[in-house]
Amino acid sequence: MIYLDHNATTPIDERVLDAMLPYLSSFYGNPSSLYRSGRAVRSAIETAREQVAALVNCLPAQIVFTSGGTEANNLAIKGFAYKNSACRMAVSSIEHPSVLAAAQALRGHGYHIDLLAVDGLGQAKLSELERICTSGLDLLSIMLANNETGVIQDMAGIAEVCRRHQVCLHTDAVQAVGKIPVDFMQLGVQMLSLSSHKIYGPKGSGALIIDRKIELDPLFTGGGQESALRPGTENTAAIIGFGKAAELAKLELQQRTEHLLKIRDQLEAGLDEIKGVVVFGRGSERLPNTVQFGLEGIDGEMLLMQLDRKGIAVSSGSACASGGAEPSHVLTAMGIDTGLAKSAIRISLGKSTSSADITRFLEVLKSLVSSPQ
Ligand SMILES: Cc1ncc(COP(=O)(O)O)c(C=O)c1O
Repeated sequence: MIYLDHNATTPIDERVLDAMLPYLSSFYGNPSSLYRSGRAVRSAIETAREQVAALVNCLPAQIVFTSGGTEANNLAIKGFAYKNSACRMAVSSIEHPSVLAAAQALRGHGYHIDLLAVDGLGQAKLSELERICTSGLDLLSIMLANNETGVIQDMAGIAEVCRRHQVCLHTDAVQAVGKIPVDFMQLGVQMLSLSSHKIYGPKGSGALIIDRKIELDPLFTGGGQESALRPGTENTAAIIGFGKAAELAKLELQQRTEHLLKIRDQLEAGLDEIKGVVVFGRGSERLPNTVQFGLEGIDGEMLLMQLDRKGIAVSSGSACASGGAEPSHVLTAMGIDTGLAKSAIRISLGKSTSSADITRFLEVLKSLVSSPQ
């Protein structure tokens, strides 16, 4: 199989698996136990915390391990809302469902939620943000890079507006991390979400990084784990795997990025040879691994199935959101016409994608779009 869907998930790196295995067998102690076998596991978790902190330049103490990006986003948004009952919030219109649905749920409980619009290139409209801030805003949640288009936000510009209006800024960096440098201290955000399985780590592990000046209420109550913000016995092996994946992502970032850019250029040059292909968000800065394109008259879901029959795995939008007949909410928010949006195919490259994979993909794609569906 040629796997071109790394934004949906990535395979576990063998070095990550090796780091995890002892914690699924020999080292089974509860990290909260005070005797030696518990303390050994606690120490491994703290190493993982340092590895994740090093990847995004934050303090280890600012990390709360969660079950993944979805939980981190929910903790940021609902945790903030539960702590500040009269707060006003805004989320961008291109967020992942774990942000949009969390905001929607809060709206159902009477919270005021604004939707921040984006332009045709997928960039948040700063003038609109300024307007929302002026009418009163406490928290903004906006992703660093979009999972469908790969468009990277102008976070410096957004953070500057938020700082002026004293708005707490949360960013979902699930897709950005491991593909571009992500620096919590530099970004000017107060909360940042991560997920392990997008960086060759295990599924079911992630983190919310929190500037401790921000107070949140936990989503669960129970023990005191993770500063009582995420009580429950830690998913030890998954956290340790996440730590190892973070260490490798930091170490290999430049090498991975150079490789991804090279094959992305090859892919886009090939797509340009197909008449009518539109690459969404192309005028924006984008992740080095993501290309989402459309072709009028093509049914994206159908094309996905045809590619699957040829042994090529792609997405027709966000994997988490696909399966419905509705066009992608991201493309709709960017003002892309419904017909073109429904033709969308997302290619997301990974560290083991080869130039030969791209050549084969383009060959198959060209043969499929030139013959009637
Ligand atoms: C931008 C973004 N945020 C959050 C998530 C959810 O992360 P997880 O699968 O770890 O819950 C995803 C997953 O696709 C994502 O792409």
